[in-house]
Parts: sequence; C-alpha cells; structure tokens
Amino acid sequence: MSDAPHSDVPQPTLLADYRPYPFTLDHVSLTFRLAPKGTRVCAKLSLAPKDGPADLVLDGEDLRLISIALDGTALDPATLTLTDRQLTLPAAALPAGPFTLETEVEIDPEANTALEGLYLSGGMFCTQCEAEGFRHITYYPDRPDVMARFDVRIESDMPVLLSNGNPVAQGAGWAEWRDPWPKPAYLFALVAGNLVALRDDFITASGRTVDLAIWVRPGDEDRCAYAMDALKRSMAWDESTYGREYDLDVFNIVAVDDFNMGAMENKGLNIFNAKLVLASPETATDTDYERIESVIAHEYFHNWTGNRITCRDWFQLCLKEGLTVFRDQQFSADERSAAVRRIEDVLALRARQFREDAGPLAHPVRPESYVEINNFYTATVYEKGAEVIGMLRRLVGPEGYRRALDLYFDRHDGQAATIEDWLKVFEDACDRDLTQFKRWYTEAGTPRLHVTEDWDAEAGRFTLEFTQETAATPGQPVKGARVIPVELGLLGPNGDEVQPSTLIEITEPRQSAVFEGLSARPVPSILRGFSAPVILERETTQAARAFLFAHDTDPFNRWEAGRNLARTALMALARGAATAPDPELIAAYGPLLRDAETDPAFAALCLRLPGEDEIAAALHGAGHTPDPAEIHAARARLARAIAQAHEEALAALYIRMKDDGPYSPDAGPAGRRALRLACLGLLNRLDNGARAQALFAEAGNMTESLSALACLIETNKAAGALAEFRDRWAGERLVMDKWFLVQMLHAAPDRAAQEAAHLAALPEFDWKNPNRFRSLMGGLSANHAGFHHASGAGYRFYADWLIRMDAMNPQITARMSTAFETWPRYDAGRQALARAELQRIAATEGLSRDTGEMVARLLA
Ligand code: PHE
Ligand code: ZN
Repeated sequence: MSDAPHSDVPQPTLLADYRPYPFTLDHVSLTFRLAPKGTRVCAKLSLAPKDGPADLVLDGEDLRLISIALDGTALDPATLTLTDRQLTLPAAALPAGPFTLETEVEIDPEANTALEGLYLSGGMFCTQCEAEGFRHITYYPDRPDVMARFDVRIESDMPVLLSNGNPVAQGAGWAEWRDPWPKPAYLFALVAGNLVALRDDFITASGRTVDLAIWVRPGDEDRCAYAMDALKRSMAWDESTYGREYDLDVFNIVAVDDFNMGAMENKGLNIFNAKLVLASPETATDTDYERIESVIAHEYFHNWTGNRITCRDWFQLCLKEGLTVFRDQQFSADERSAAVRRIEDVLALRARQFREDAGPLAHPVRPESYVEINNFYTATVYEKGAEVIGMLRRLVGPEGYRRALDLYFDRHDGQAATIEDWLKVFEDACDRDLTQFKRWYTEAGTPRLHVTEDWDAEAGRFTLEFTQETAATPGQPVKGARVIPVELGLLGPNGDEVQPSTLIEITEPRQSAVFEGLSARPVPSILRGFSAPVILERETTQAARAFLFAHDTDPFNRWEAGRNLARTALMALARGAATAPDPELIAAYGPLLRDAETDPAFAALCLRLPGEDEIAAALHGAGHTPDPAEIHAARARLARAIAQAHEEALAALYIRMKDDGPYSPDAGPAGRRALRLACLGLLNRLDNGARAQALFAEAGNMTESLSALACLIETNKAAGALAEFRDRWAGERLVMDKWFLVQMLHAAPDRAAQEAAHLAALPEFDWKNPNRFRSLMGGLSANHAGFHHASGAGYRFYADWLIRMDAMNPQITARMSTAFETWPRYDAGRQALARAELQRIAATEGLSRDTGEMVARLLA
C-alpha cells in the first residue's frame, strides 16, 4: 500500500465546495466481533457509480485494515491509497456498474478516550457517530448525504446487544438487527453490555404497538420512570401536533456514564448521558427533571426532523437542530407553563448565544466554513436556529406554519436537505418571498433594535421609530437589514390595553409605526414574547419600566421590565454611578411578592437577579469596561437591600410555599419550590445561613438539599454539610457531580481558583469522566468574579486543565475553551492574562485540531 503524505495544517471545509458523492450506496452489512482491545469490524458495501467513472474515496481513521475485497476478490494492496484519514480506490480499478466492497478492520475501543466511534463506558460497549465518528469504526463515505439501509450482526458475550432498527434474530453470543429506513452513518449506533431495562409500550395513532425500553446499569432501573413517561408524552405530542408517527417496532434508549454531549438521536436507539435519563427525588433536582423531559422529547423528535429528513452536509446542521429545539420548546411549553418556559429559554439564549454572537466565536446560524465540525454544535446553531423558526412561525401564522411543515415532510422525506429547501417550503406553502429573511441564516451577530417614542398630544398620535443595526462579526464586516417581527401593545395610564398586541414587521434600517386616536400618552410594551432575537434598546425611564413590571398583560414583557429595572440598577452600582440601590426597583418587588402565589414559578423568575456575566455584557455593550469584582459586590448589595426591605413578605412566603405532600416534579409543585428557594436565597443574606441550615437538615429532595448547600457555602457555613453530603452520596456519580459544581459556583471569588485546585486533587475528581470534568471546570467558569479574578489564577488553572484534557478528549476540551470567549470585554490587565493563557494553549505540542481551531479563533 502506498502511503500518501499527510498535511499537518488543517484545511477548512467550505460550503461552497459541496459536491454530491459520485456513488450510490444502497445497502451495508456490518459484522462486529467485540473485544475491548481488538474489535473486528467487517463491512460489505453495495455501491454503484452515479454518473460515470470516479475514484472511490472512503473515510477512515485509527483503523487497522486487515483485508479488502472487490466483488468477492481480494484486492491487490498496490491498487489503493491509504492515508491516516482516507482510503482511495482509483476509478480505473472499479467496475462500471454496481459492485460490492468488503473490508475487515481492527479497532481498539479501550484506547478510545475521545469517546467518538466505538468506545467503552463503565464496561459496556457503546458508540457515538455524530458528526464524524463512524469513520473510526470502518472505511465508509462518512457524510450525511449518503443514506443506506443497514444490517448489523453483533457477536459478543455481553448479555444485551443492541443496534438500530428492528431486531431480526438473536442467539447465545450474537444478535442481528435490520434498519429498514435508509440513514446516514452518523445515525448508526451499537450498544453491548450488562444492562437492565424498564419496559413499556406505545400504541401509535394508526394502531401499531411500539415496544419501548430504557436500558441502564443494574440498580438504576428504578430511576427511569420519569424518562419513560416523558417519552410516551413526546410520542403522543408529535402525532397530535405535527401528525408524525413513529416508524419502527421498537424504540430503545440507553443511559451511559461517559458521554461528550447530552444525548444522541441514533435511529431507534437513542444514547443518553445518564444524567438526562436517571432521576429520583432524592438524587435529581426540579431542573434535572425539566431537562430530562425536554431532551427525551428532543431526541425523539429528531426521528422526523433529522433522521427521516436529514442534512445534506454539516453546514445545514441547523436544519435538524434548530427545528428540533424549536419543537422541544413547543412541547415543554404545552406540557408546562408557556410563559415560564419562554422566559427560561430567553435567559439561556442571552446567556449563551448572545454572548457567542458578541465575541470572537460569532458565526452564522448556517456557517460557511469550518475546520472541525464538532466545534459548530453551538448555541447559535441550536438556540438561535430555533428562534429563527419561531420568527417564521410568527410571520406566517400557526396555520401557515403547519402547511409549510406538512409540505416539508411530504417533499423531503427520505432526503438529505438544505436550508434553501426549508425556506422554499415556506415560500411555496405561504406564498411569501423569504430572500431578506434568509439573512438570519447567513449573517452572524445580534441586531440592536433601537426605539424612540414620540407623543403628539394634540393629534392623539403616538409614534415609535425603530432603527436596526448589526455590528461586524469575524469575516462579516457589513450587514444587511433584517426582517424583525415585533409584537407590541400599548398600555393606557391605568394599565388598560389601549392597543392590543399586534405584529409589526420591520424590514428597513429605519422604520416607524404610528398609532392614532389616543386620548393619553400610552406606555408601549415592545417585543412581546421576545418575538425576535434582538437587543432591544429603549430610551425610557425606570418609572416606565416599573409601570410595565406592574401592569403589562404580556407575561414575558412583565418579567422583562423587572429584569431591565434590576439590570440598569446593577450596572449603575457596579460602575459607581449610583451609591445606593435604586429605590424604585426595591419598591417594585412589593406588589410582586404580594401577588406571588398566583404564579409562584413566574414570581421566582422575577426574583432572580441578573447574573454577573449578564451585567458584564450589558456594561460592555454600553461602552464601559466591566469590573468583575465590582459587579459581584453590586449584586450582593442589591440582593441584601431587597431582602431587608421585604424581609417579612419573603419570610412569610418561605413558610407558605413549603410543601408537605410527596415530591412531584410537575410544574405546579416545582414552581412553589422555586419561589420558596428564591426567598431563601435572599433571606440567607440576612439570617446568616440559619434557614439554610435547617432546610439542609430536613430536606426530603435534592432540589432543597442543593439550594440549602449553596446558601451555606455563600455564608461560609458549609463545612459540615459538605462533608455529610459527600459521605452520603459517595457512590452516586451524578450526585457527586453536583457536589463539585455547587462548590465551584458559590466559591468566594478570591478563593475560587484555590478551591478548584483543592477539588481537583481529591480522589473523587475522576477527570476523564466528561460530566465530572464539566462540573468542576464549568462551575469555575460560571463563577464570573472567580474565573475573571484580577490575579489571573482562574485563567491559569483553567488553561492547565484544558491542556491536560486535550490529549485525552479534544471535543470536550474545545467546547470548554469557550469560557475564554468574553476575554476582549475586560480591562487591559485581564486581557493580557487571558491572552497569555490562550497563547500557551495554542503553543502546546500535539494540540488537537478541535482545540487548535477554537484557540485560533479566540485569539484572532
Ligand atoms: N445530535 C445531538 C442532539 O442534538 C447532539 C450531539 C452531537 C450528540 C454530536 C453527540 C455528538 O440531539
Ligand atoms: Zn439535536
């Protein structure tokens, strides 16, 4: 075999370079002989050239080629070219018509620490193939537009052997699976292990019975009930809301301990990070339950949006991810409180996506170039991708949206589609030109929508003038005007709605909306429901905000008004422009607390103060240099002032919101707990940990235990509780993750890096487990004032561990490097410290392509 030279400088892949694969691949047969060190994989591919002769290029990495045969005859090794990334057969060596290619390779699952391809987790074999993991299993055209039918045979002495599709046959030491639906290789999965199942079934709308199973390690089977319930509700919802029925006889979910991401939608065999499956009241928080519900739904919904219709290439990732996030958000909104869910989604969007869009990693929802595709599973592709669909739905209305989706499923079922295909179904079904709208997919950056008000008392005319602007982002200096759907209403002086909610479509850089026939100056409620992912800049007063916080009929904007009030006050405090917390703000919490019981979850959200990173972003956006220590102090000061002013009401609510019934993760009881714990968080600033101490002792569920623990850490009273918690949960990985995380999140900023070093030295810090690593590192980077400490100790500790982890698991390392994405916001001293750490990472010998690309972008 001739060895072609391999270039070390990674070349970017470009959307513009897309070419269809020159062969069809109808069918593939795979046989696995599993062994931890030497697993053998035999693959038989049924290929045919599409339009005349072409070289056959197959992807393959870390494979040891044992044999290769064309139409049953062993190939002379001299005919093929093998690099460390590809196997090529020249056109001249191939038949003009259909042929089969058989290969046998050996792979080493035990040595696979990157957790891509076939690997071992807690003694079981499992796979992760999205985006380009299948090439670590066998030689194959590992690209999503090559869709084939798979037959799989697994040989192993593990008791449970699973793959995609339907079971065909099994015996002692083997099992066979057949997936009738053509699929790209990234949806392939295999699991072999000593597993037990929680079983159930689901009867589809057309009356077929689907056998459901959630596979876990023995002992965990009593923590699967909630995931199973969420799965069945998801299946019913997709039928009733989108008319989508499940299409196999079985649906399997497997929980694994070592997983790079949240979960994976492999056809008929979803693989989940155990933390998104396993839950009991003692071990999981309300937030965990909520996430389990939404991720179970998300992966299930992929069966239609992602699997039946997949992506032509990885630039189209948002085609499946944006849409599936949008669908899981709709599901959660239907199953729980829509207003609360919307607020939580927007909080997450701003915290992660707006942050991304404002920094060196900004990229369009549909990027045009990448070095490592794993680096583009981002908040922009997922969350902004979902927002863009929400805007489309608003613009065409729910019926138009349903028509477009029906057309999408009709027209593209079985295909690998593009964003152009997606937009075209809306154009065709709703008779609309989406040329300008498409900028949401092709241009990065968060538009700023500036609004000024004009009141003409004599004419009774109220005018809103909108101007939009999107700042330059890497590689995109100039931006066009976006289509921005602005939902708005006008409130009269007594809080009545004098103009009910209406949709204004902004398309110009400058545009106004005029309202006539008004008897008094109204207060506008703009961007209701957060109808577009923009930064709304209003020239308005704290008094107008307080008015909206008290009276807006749109729950999102009511919450938003309170949030703006608090953020503005915090910004002023943090930069020394105010000497005391804003009395208008403090007063505004009075009516909120009086009324809190009508919607406890909503009240809890209103009581939550903007986070430190959010304040830093806002200061930076307003042209100031944020000081993390001052921000931390300002936030503590405001919280204390609120607690002092409303101590009685908070204390009363803390008692009234106590639930004596059995634990339920449902929205109602979870909302009461959220309110109670929000009150605790404020009261903790006054009672020096007294209530938290009592709660920690009596807590009957993890939600309360963990909140109490956080409060105790903040009041420096946690030593005993932390030790007790550690003893009690020593054997529970998912709970111990929380133990690490809570300590990092709430560590005093001056001691955060030291604390991190202390925790990292403990025997429980199993850093090779992605969840454990993320708990410690993610906790540190989310501790804003600790991570961005002026000493640089946070940056240094973090970079040390990124360098160490990169050799083990590049994907996790690259993802965690985003902690540095805000470094250009801060003062020159911090910038120099952060830059030096990034440069140190960049200079690491043997640095992975994943981390190399990220660090280069962060430094650009
Ligand atoms: N496709 C998965 C999801 O969104 C995410 C994922 C990507 C998982 C890559 C693993 C690897 O549901
Ligand atoms: Zn997804």
